[in-house]
Amino acid sequence: MPPLSDPLQIAPTPVPPGSPAREVALAHRIAELGEWFHNLDLHGISTAPHHFLGDFPNIKWKYISQAIPEDLTGATVLDIGCNAGFYSLKMKQRGAKYVHGVDVDERYLSQARFAAETLALDIDFQKRSVYDVDEIPGQFDYVLFMGLFYHLRYPLFALDKIIKKVGKRLVFQTMIRGSQAARVWDDDYPFWNEEVFLHPDFPAMYFIEKSYSHDYTNWWIPNRGAVESMLRSSGLEILEHPELETWICAPSNVTRNGRYILEMELDGTL
Ligand SMILES: C[S@@+](CC[C@H](N)C(=O)[O-])C[C@H]1O[C@@H](n2cnc3c(N)ncnc32)[C@H](O)[C@@H]1O
Repeated sequence: MPPLSDPLQIAPTPVPPGSPAREVALAHRIAELGEWFHNLDLHGISTAPHHFLGDFPNIKWKYISQAIPEDLTGATVLDIGCNAGFYSLKMKQRGAKYVHGVDVDERYLSQARFAAETLALDIDFQKRSVYDVDEIPGQFDYVLFMGLFYHLRYPLFALDKIIKKVGKRLVFQTMIRGSQAARVWDDDYPFWNEEVFLHPDFPAMYFIEKSYSHDYTNWWIPNRGAVESMLRSSGLEILEHPELETWICAPSNVTRNGRYILEMELDGTL
């Protein structure tokens, strides 16, 4: 990778770090990059100080960070739906060797690139859909799939593709609604048992036909039982649940007879 340039040294006269002029230039550039979803701290300036969820995603990272090694020296990371790169930046700051963030939104990617450059962190942000991650060569030690599952019309299709990229750990986060209970269910039920479907804890996803939270890209919102059963069904072992909406998983049975679940499902041999 070429050396990082200082994004605030583009003025004819370089602005010294910490000077008021530099702060003004930084604030101006942050505003120019549009509305931010991630509240990043860029040399003391917050990118989304009025986020409706509070100091987001710091409020989540506070808990998730404890479930990820502080020293990630040598690790590789894929951050899917990276937005302005909050989690990519955190992983790089922990020493990861290579961090690759992908998103479909150019505005967020520009914010992510600017943030990384401003903080002098070498991160590879590229435009790519979650549905194409299986075209990226190789696997990553850590794959982050956070805040995206419920935005997808084909959530399990995406999850089963993502599994192929997970070397060691998947960090999975989704909005959940409905029951937050985790229960063990029977392996099978008779055809005439309809009661089990009336139980609020039974794994279920709510389908949003129109919009939820003024966002028409919220499609499927699972309850906790559905999240955990889908993760297990995709061949993952759940290792930790550091906060309400986040699970840390390891690949366990992602292949059957040497083939991925996705391939078997698509060719009708699962
Ligand atoms: C709610 S944000 C979550 C951002 C971040 N991962 C987090 O947890 O804070 C959802 C992100 O997913 C991106 N996104 C939506 N559809 C996508 C797709 N098909 N492939 C990749 N990213 C997508 C959006 O542009 C947005 O940045």
